[in-house]
Amino acid sequence: MLKAVAEIWVIALVLHVWGEQGTPLHLNGLLSQAINLTSDLNVTQPVRDSFWYFTPSGRRKKRICEFRNDKTHHCDKWNDPRERFELYNDGMTLEIKSVMLEDSGIFELLVTLQDRTTETSLFNFTVYEPVPSPKINITLENVNADRCNITLYCFVMSSAPMLSFVWKYGNQERESYGNGFRIELSLTPKDSSMEYHCLVRNPVSQNMASVLPPQNCSIIHNGQSRNKYYIMLSLLIIVFPLAVWFVIVMNRTTKKGEVSAQTERTYYEVEDLSSQKMSNVQQAKNPPETAKAQTIYCVLQRDGE
Ligand SMILES: *[C@@H]1O[C@H](CO)[C@@H](O)[C@H](O)[C@H]1NC(C)=O
Ligand SMILES: *[C@@H]1O[C@H](CO)[C@@H](O)[C@H](O)[C@H]1NC(C)=O
Ligand SMILES: *[C@@H]1O[C@H](CO)[C@@H](O)[C@H](O)[C@H]1NC(C)=O
Ligand SMILES: *[C@@H]1O[C@H](CO)[C@@H](O)[C@H](O)[C@H]1NC(C)=O
Ligand SMILES: *[C@@H]1O[C@H](CO)[C@@H](O)[C@H](O)[C@H]1NC(C)=O
Ligand SMILES: *[C@@H]1O[C@H](CO)[C@@H](O)[C@H](O)[C@H]1NC(C)=O
Repeated sequence: MLKAVAEIWVIALVLHVWGEQGTPLHLNGLLSQAINLTSDLNVTQPVRDSFWYFTPSGRRKKRICEFRNDKTHHCDKWNDPRERFELYNDGMTLEIKSVMLEDSGIFELLVTLQDRTTETSLFNFTVYEPVPSPKINITLENVNADRCNITLYCFVMSSAPMLSFVWKYGNQERESYGNGFRIELSLTPKDSSMEYHCLVRNPVSQNMASVLPPQNCSIIHNGQSRNKYYIMLSLLIIVFPLAVWFVIVMNRTTKKGEVSAQTERTYYEVEDLSSQKMSNVQQAKNPPETAKAQTIYCVLQRDGE
Protein backbone atom coordinates (compact mmCIF):
# COMPACT_ATOMS: atom_id res chain seq x y z
CA MET A 1 0.00 0.00 0.00
CA LEU A 2 2.70 2.41 1.02
CA LYS A 3 4.75 1.30 -1.95
CA ALA A 4 1.84 1.94 -4.29
CA VAL A 5 1.35 5.46 -2.91
CA ALA A 6 5.08 6.11 -3.28
CA GLU A 7 4.90 4.94 -6.89
CA ILE A 8 1.96 7.23 -7.59
CA TRP A 9 3.93 10.10 -6.09
CA VAL A 10 6.92 9.34 -8.25
CA ILE A 11 4.71 9.18 -11.34
CA ALA A 12 2.99 12.42 -10.34
CA LEU A 13 6.35 14.08 -9.82
CA VAL A 14 7.63 12.88 -13.19
CA LEU A 15 4.43 14.03 -14.87
CA HIS A 16 4.68 17.36 -13.10
CA VAL A 17 8.25 17.93 -14.22
CA TRP A 18 7.42 16.76 -17.73
CA GLY A 19 4.31 18.94 -17.87
CA GLU A 20 6.19 21.94 -16.53
CA GLN A 21 8.79 21.59 -19.23
CA GLY A 22 6.00 21.61 -21.79
CA THR A 23 6.48 20.95 -25.43
CA PRO A 24 8.97 23.25 -27.06
CA LEU A 25 7.76 25.97 -29.35
CA HIS A 26 9.15 25.39 -32.84
CA LEU A 27 10.89 28.36 -34.31
CA ASN A 28 12.79 28.65 -37.57
CA GLY A 29 15.47 31.22 -38.30
CA LEU A 30 17.22 32.30 -41.46
CA LEU A 31 21.00 32.55 -41.42
CA SER A 32 22.29 36.12 -40.81
CA GLN A 33 18.82 37.47 -40.00
CA ALA A 34 17.64 38.77 -36.63
CA ILE A 35 14.94 36.98 -34.66
CA ASN A 36 13.13 37.39 -31.35
CA LEU A 37 12.42 34.44 -29.10
CA THR A 38 9.42 35.70 -27.16
CA SER A 39 7.85 33.74 -24.32
CA ASP A 40 4.11 33.17 -24.39
CA LEU A 41 3.98 33.01 -20.57
CA ASN A 42 1.33 35.09 -18.86
CA VAL A 43 3.12 36.73 -15.94
CA THR A 44 0.71 38.33 -13.53
CA GLN A 45 3.40 39.50 -11.10
CA PRO A 46 6.61 41.44 -11.51
CA VAL A 47 9.53 39.38 -12.69
CA ARG A 48 12.13 38.76 -10.01
CA ASP A 49 14.71 37.37 -12.40
CA SER A 50 14.92 35.43 -15.63
CA PHE A 51 17.57 33.25 -17.15
CA TRP A 52 18.11 32.06 -20.68
CA TYR A 53 19.82 28.74 -21.32
CA PHE A 54 20.90 27.24 -24.58
CA THR A 55 21.49 23.58 -25.38
CA PRO A 56 23.12 23.12 -28.78
CA SER A 57 22.11 19.78 -30.30
CA GLY A 58 24.15 17.04 -28.70
CA ARG A 59 25.99 19.39 -26.32
CA ARG A 60 25.70 20.58 -22.74
CA LYS A 61 23.29 23.24 -21.57
CA LYS A 62 24.86 26.63 -20.86
CA ARG A 63 23.50 29.84 -19.43
CA ILE A 64 23.64 32.65 -21.98
CA CYS A 65 21.77 35.67 -20.53
CA GLU A 66 20.26 36.84 -17.28
CA PHE A 67 17.91 39.60 -16.16
CA ARG A 68 17.53 40.80 -12.53
CA ASN A 69 14.77 42.90 -11.07
CA ASP A 70 17.23 45.64 -10.37
CA LYS A 71 16.92 46.02 -14.19
CA THR A 72 20.48 44.93 -14.82
CA HIS A 73 20.86 42.35 -17.46
CA HIS A 74 23.75 40.90 -19.27
CA CYS A 75 24.58 38.16 -21.71
CA ASP A 76 27.64 36.04 -21.11
CA LYS A 77 30.55 37.36 -23.15
CA TRP A 78 32.15 33.92 -23.04
CA ASN A 79 29.12 32.33 -24.71
CA ASP A 80 28.35 35.36 -26.84
CA PRO A 81 31.65 36.93 -27.93
CA ARG A 82 30.03 38.81 -30.81
CA GLU A 83 27.28 40.28 -28.61
CA ARG A 84 24.53 38.94 -30.76
CA PHE A 85 22.11 38.37 -27.85
CA GLU A 86 19.91 41.09 -26.35
CA LEU A 87 17.14 40.93 -23.74
CA TYR A 88 13.88 42.88 -23.81
CA ASN A 89 10.64 42.97 -21.87
CA ASP A 90 12.03 42.03 -18.42
CA GLY A 91 14.06 39.31 -20.04
CA MET A 92 10.96 37.65 -21.51
CA THR A 93 12.28 38.26 -25.04
CA LEU A 94 15.66 37.13 -26.32
CA GLU A 95 16.81 38.74 -29.53
CA ILE A 96 19.43 37.05 -31.69
CA LYS A 97 20.82 39.80 -33.87
CA SER A 98 22.53 37.74 -36.53
CA VAL A 99 21.58 34.10 -36.54
CA MET A 100 24.35 31.54 -37.00
CA LEU A 101 24.03 27.86 -37.91
CA GLU A 102 25.35 26.84 -34.49
CA ASP A 103 22.36 28.58 -32.87
CA SER A 104 20.21 25.56 -33.71
CA GLY A 105 19.14 23.85 -30.52
CA ILE A 106 16.92 24.24 -27.50
CA PHE A 107 16.54 27.65 -25.86
CA GLU A 108 15.04 27.69 -22.41
CA LEU A 109 13.72 30.60 -20.40
CA LEU A 110 13.42 30.22 -16.62
CA VAL A 111 11.41 33.03 -14.98
CA THR A 112 11.14 33.57 -11.24
CA LEU A 113 8.28 35.81 -10.15
CA GLN A 114 7.99 37.98 -6.97
CA ASP A 115 6.33 35.10 -5.08
CA ARG A 116 9.27 32.91 -6.11
CA THR A 117 7.14 30.74 -8.36
CA THR A 118 8.95 29.74 -11.52
CA GLU A 119 7.83 29.36 -15.10
CA THR A 120 9.73 27.99 -18.07
CA SER A 121 9.47 28.39 -21.80
CA LEU A 122 11.17 26.11 -24.30
CA PHE A 123 12.06 26.90 -27.89
CA ASN A 124 13.20 24.35 -30.43
CA PHE A 125 15.10 26.66 -32.72
CA THR A 126 16.28 25.59 -36.17
CA VAL A 127 18.48 27.72 -38.39
CA TYR A 128 18.24 27.40 -42.15
CA GLU A 129 20.53 28.68 -44.83
CA PRO A 130 18.87 30.54 -47.69
CA VAL A 131 18.09 28.03 -50.43
CA PRO A 132 20.73 28.37 -53.15
CA SER A 133 19.79 28.67 -56.79
CA PRO A 134 18.74 25.24 -58.01
CA LYS A 135 20.46 23.67 -61.02
CA ILE A 136 18.77 21.52 -63.60
CA ASN A 137 20.38 18.69 -65.55
CA ILE A 138 18.53 17.54 -68.64
CA THR A 139 19.09 14.12 -70.14
CA LEU A 140 17.60 13.31 -73.51
CA GLU A 141 16.57 9.67 -73.25
CA ASN A 142 14.87 9.02 -76.51
CA VAL A 143 13.35 10.90 -79.42
CA ASN A 144 11.06 9.54 -82.03
CA ALA A 145 8.46 11.00 -84.38
CA ASP A 146 5.80 11.76 -81.76
CA ARG A 147 7.54 11.43 -78.37
CA CYS A 148 10.55 12.95 -76.72
CA ASN A 149 11.55 11.28 -73.48
CA ILE A 150 13.66 13.38 -71.15
CA THR A 151 14.84 13.27 -67.57
CA LEU A 152 14.95 16.52 -65.63
CA TYR A 153 17.07 16.52 -62.50
CA CYS A 154 16.82 19.50 -60.18
CA PHE A 155 19.41 19.77 -57.43
CA VAL A 156 21.13 22.26 -55.16
CA MET A 157 24.75 22.51 -54.19
CA SER A 158 24.05 22.45 -50.47
CA SER A 159 24.69 20.34 -47.44
CA ALA A 160 21.21 21.19 -46.18
CA PRO A 161 19.66 17.96 -44.95
CA MET A 162 16.09 18.13 -46.20
CA LEU A 163 14.68 20.44 -48.80
CA SER A 164 11.32 20.42 -50.49
CA PHE A 165 11.53 20.14 -54.28
CA VAL A 166 8.50 20.93 -56.40
CA TRP A 167 8.39 20.46 -60.15
CA LYS A 168 5.70 22.65 -61.73
CA TYR A 169 4.64 22.48 -65.35
CA GLY A 170 1.31 23.14 -66.99
CA ASN A 171 -1.13 22.53 -64.18
CA GLN A 172 0.96 19.70 -62.73
CA GLU A 173 2.83 19.78 -59.44
CA ARG A 174 5.10 17.06 -58.12
CA GLU A 175 6.87 17.29 -54.77
CA SER A 176 9.71 15.40 -53.17
CA TYR A 177 12.12 15.88 -50.26
CA GLY A 178 15.87 15.54 -50.23
CA ASN A 179 18.78 17.12 -52.06
CA GLY A 180 17.43 16.63 -55.57
CA PHE A 181 14.39 15.53 -57.48
CA ARG A 182 14.45 13.62 -60.75
CA ILE A 183 11.40 13.44 -63.01
CA GLU A 184 11.00 11.49 -66.23
CA LEU A 185 8.85 13.01 -68.90
CA SER A 186 7.48 11.71 -72.16
CA LEU A 187 6.78 14.84 -74.13
CA THR A 188 4.43 15.32 -77.02
CA PRO A 189 5.12 18.24 -79.35
CA LYS A 190 2.59 20.26 -77.36
CA ASP A 191 4.50 19.78 -74.07
CA SER A 192 7.94 20.44 -75.47
CA SER A 193 7.36 24.19 -75.75
CA MET A 194 6.20 24.32 -72.13
CA GLU A 195 8.40 25.72 -69.35
CA TYR A 196 9.38 23.47 -66.45
CA HIS A 197 9.91 25.13 -63.08
CA CYS A 198 11.77 23.67 -60.15
CA LEU A 199 10.94 25.29 -56.83
CA VAL A 200 13.18 24.45 -53.89
CA ARG A 201 12.28 25.55 -50.41
CA ASN A 202 12.95 25.16 -46.73
CA PRO A 203 10.70 26.58 -44.01
CA VAL A 204 12.21 30.06 -44.30
CA SER A 205 13.32 30.59 -47.89
CA GLN A 206 12.84 29.41 -51.43
CA ASN A 207 14.43 29.61 -54.85
CA MET A 208 13.45 28.61 -58.35
CA ALA A 209 14.93 27.62 -61.68
CA SER A 210 13.16 27.04 -65.01
CA VAL A 211 13.97 25.22 -68.22
CA LEU A 212 12.54 24.60 -71.63
CA PRO A 213 12.93 21.10 -73.04
CA PRO A 214 16.23 20.68 -74.92
CA GLN A 215 16.58 21.85 -78.48
CA ASN A 216 16.88 18.22 -79.53
CA CYS A 217 13.33 17.64 -78.38
CA SER A 218 12.03 20.21 -80.82
CA ILE A 219 13.30 17.96 -83.59
CA ILE A 220 9.95 16.37 -83.14
CA HIS A 221 8.37 19.66 -84.20
CA ASN A 222 10.21 19.46 -87.48
CA GLY A 223 9.49 15.75 -87.55
CA GLN A 224 5.88 16.61 -87.10
CA SER A 225 5.82 19.11 -89.92
CA ARG A 226 7.80 16.67 -92.05
CA ASN A 227 5.13 14.12 -91.26
CA LYS A 228 2.48 16.58 -92.35
CA TYR A 229 4.44 17.14 -95.53
CA TYR A 230 4.57 13.41 -96.13
CA ILE A 231 0.86 13.14 -95.48
CA MET A 232 0.24 15.92 -97.98
CA LEU A 233 2.58 14.28 -100.47
CA SER A 234 0.93 10.88 -100.12
CA LEU A 235 -2.44 12.55 -100.44
CA LEU A 236 -1.25 14.15 -103.63
CA ILE A 237 0.19 10.88 -104.92
CA ILE A 238 -2.98 8.93 -104.18
CA VAL A 239 -5.68 11.51 -104.57
CA PHE A 240 -4.44 13.31 -107.68
CA PRO A 241 -4.29 10.20 -109.90
CA LEU A 242 -7.63 9.14 -108.44
CA ALA A 243 -9.08 12.50 -109.38
CA VAL A 244 -7.59 12.30 -112.85
CA TRP A 245 -8.91 8.79 -113.27
CA PHE A 246 -12.31 9.91 -112.06
CA VAL A 247 -12.43 12.79 -114.52
CA ILE A 248 -11.44 10.50 -117.36
CA VAL A 249 -13.99 7.89 -116.42
CA MET A 250 -16.71 10.53 -116.15
CA ASN A 251 -15.71 11.92 -119.48
CA ARG A 252 -15.80 8.49 -121.02
CA THR A 253 -19.26 7.62 -119.74
CA THR A 254 -20.70 10.87 -121.03
CA LYS A 255 -19.08 10.31 -124.42
CA LYS A 256 -20.45 6.76 -124.50
CA GLY A 257 -23.89 8.13 -123.73
CA GLU A 258 -23.59 10.59 -126.56
CA VAL A 259 -22.28 7.92 -128.88
CA SER A 260 -25.09 5.51 -128.10
CA ALA A 261 -27.59 8.32 -128.43
CA GLN A 262 -26.27 9.27 -131.82
CA THR A 263 -25.79 5.74 -132.99
CA GLU A 264 -26.35 5.81 -136.63
CA ARG A 265 -27.90 2.77 -137.89
CA THR A 266 -26.23 1.96 -141.10
CA TYR A 267 -27.71 -0.76 -143.10
CA TYR A 268 -25.73 -2.64 -145.56
CA GLU A 269 -27.47 -4.47 -148.29
CA VAL A 270 -25.76 -7.66 -149.05
CA GLU A 271 -26.93 -9.25 -152.17
CA ASP A 272 -26.96 -12.96 -152.50
CA LEU A 273 -23.86 -14.01 -154.30
CA SER A 274 -25.90 -16.49 -156.23
CA SER A 275 -27.83 -13.78 -158.03
CA GLN A 276 -24.85 -11.66 -158.99
CA LYS A 277 -21.22 -12.36 -159.69
CA MET A 278 -20.02 -9.56 -157.65
CA SER A 279 -21.66 -8.41 -154.53
CA ASN A 280 -22.93 -4.98 -154.96
CA VAL A 281 -22.97 -3.34 -151.68
CA GLN A 282 -25.19 -0.38 -151.47
CA GLN A 283 -25.33 1.89 -148.61
CA ALA A 284 -28.72 3.18 -147.83
CA LYS A 285 -30.24 5.15 -145.04
CA ASN A 286 -33.27 3.05 -145.04
CA PRO A 287 -33.58 -0.54 -145.93
CA PRO A 288 -35.03 -0.86 -149.40
CA GLU A 289 -38.62 -1.97 -149.23
CA THR A 290 -38.52 -3.90 -152.32
CA ALA A 291 -35.35 -5.87 -152.24
CA LYS A 292 -35.16 -8.64 -154.61
CA ALA A 293 -32.12 -9.92 -153.00
CA GLN A 294 -31.95 -11.55 -149.62
CA THR A 295 -31.10 -8.79 -147.25
CA ILE A 296 -29.18 -9.19 -144.02
CA TYR A 297 -29.45 -6.40 -141.57
CA CYS A 298 -26.87 -5.90 -138.98
CA VAL A 299 -26.43 -3.05 -136.61
CA LEU A 300 -22.93 -1.78 -136.48
CA GLN A 301 -22.03 0.18 -133.49
CA ARG A 302 -18.89 2.11 -133.12
CA ASP A 303 -17.31 0.98 -129.93
CA GLY A 304 -16.67 4.28 -128.29
CA GLU A 305 -12.95 4.47 -128.90
C1 LIG B 1 12.66 42.26 -30.90
O1 LIG B 1 11.89 42.95 -29.94
C2 LIG B 1 12.40 44.24 -29.61
C3 LIG B 1 11.54 44.82 -28.51
O2 LIG B 1 10.20 44.51 -28.68
C4 LIG B 1 12.43 45.12 -30.83
O3 LIG B 1 13.00 46.38 -30.50
C5 LIG B 1 13.27 44.45 -31.90
O4 LIG B 1 13.23 45.21 -33.10
C6 LIG B 1 12.74 43.06 -32.18
N1 LIG B 1 13.62 42.40 -33.12
C7 LIG B 1 13.16 41.69 -34.14
C8 LIG B 1 14.18 41.04 -35.01
O5 LIG B 1 11.97 41.59 -34.39
C1 LIG C 1 -2.17 33.45 -21.67
O1 LIG C 1 -3.45 34.03 -21.54
C2 LIG C 1 -4.22 33.95 -22.69
C3 LIG C 1 -5.53 34.66 -22.43
O2 LIG C 1 -5.41 35.56 -21.40
C4 LIG C 1 -4.45 32.51 -23.06
O3 LIG C 1 -5.20 32.45 -24.27
C5 LIG C 1 -3.13 31.83 -23.25
O4 LIG C 1 -3.31 30.46 -23.53
C6 LIG C 1 -2.27 31.97 -22.01
N1 LIG C 1 -0.97 31.41 -22.27
C7 LIG C 1 -0.41 30.50 -21.49
C8 LIG C 1 0.95 30.00 -21.87
O5 LIG C 1 -0.93 30.10 -20.47
C1 LIG D 1 13.45 19.85 -32.27
O1 LIG D 1 12.92 19.75 -33.60
C2 LIG D 1 13.55 18.79 -34.39
C3 LIG D 1 12.90 18.84 -35.74
O2 LIG D 1 12.58 20.10 -36.12
C4 LIG D 1 13.40 17.43 -33.77
O3 LIG D 1 14.09 16.49 -34.55
C5 LIG D 1 13.94 17.43 -32.36
O4 LIG D 1 13.67 16.20 -31.74
C6 LIG D 1 13.28 18.52 -31.56
N1 LIG D 1 13.88 18.57 -30.25
C7 LIG D 1 13.14 18.58 -29.14
C8 LIG D 1 13.89 18.56 -27.88
O5 LIG D 1 11.93 18.56 -29.18
C1 LIG E 1 24.81 17.49 -64.24
O1 LIG E 1 25.40 17.49 -65.53
C2 LIG E 1 26.78 17.79 -65.52
C3 LIG E 1 27.23 17.88 -66.95
O2 LIG E 1 26.59 16.96 -67.75
C4 LIG E 1 27.53 16.71 -64.74
O3 LIG E 1 28.89 17.01 -64.72
C5 LIG E 1 26.99 16.68 -63.34
O4 LIG E 1 27.59 15.62 -62.63
C6 LIG E 1 25.50 16.48 -63.34
N1 LIG E 1 25.06 16.63 -61.98
C7 LIG E 1 24.22 15.77 -61.42
C8 LIG E 1 23.90 16.06 -60.00
O5 LIG E 1 23.74 14.82 -62.03
C1 LIG F 1 21.46 17.00 -79.29
O1 LIG F 1 21.78 16.88 -80.67
C2 LIG F 1 23.12 17.17 -80.96
C3 LIG F 1 23.29 17.08 -82.45
O2 LIG F 1 22.11 16.86 -83.09
C4 LIG F 1 24.03 16.21 -80.23
O3 LIG F 1 25.38 16.52 -80.50
C5 LIG F 1 23.78 16.28 -78.75
O4 LIG F 1 24.54 15.31 -78.06
C6 LIG F 1 22.31 16.05 -78.47
N1 LIG F 1 22.08 16.24 -77.07
C7 LIG F 1 21.63 15.30 -76.30
C8 LIG F 1 21.39 15.69 -74.88
O5 LIG F 1 21.40 14.18 -76.71
C1 LIG G 1 8.86 7.25 -73.65
O1 LIG G 1 8.26 7.03 -72.41
C2 LIG G 1 6.99 6.42 -72.48
C3 LIG G 1 6.39 6.41 -71.10
O2 LIG G 1 7.37 6.18 -70.12
C4 LIG G 1 7.16 5.02 -73.06
O3 LIG G 1 5.89 4.39 -73.13
C5 LIG G 1 7.75 5.14 -74.44
O4 LIG G 1 8.03 3.87 -74.94
C6 LIG G 1 9.04 5.94 -74.40
N1 LIG G 1 9.42 6.23 -75.75
C7 LIG G 1 10.64 6.04 -76.19
C8 LIG G 1 10.89 6.40 -77.62
O5 LIG G 1 11.51 5.59 -75.46
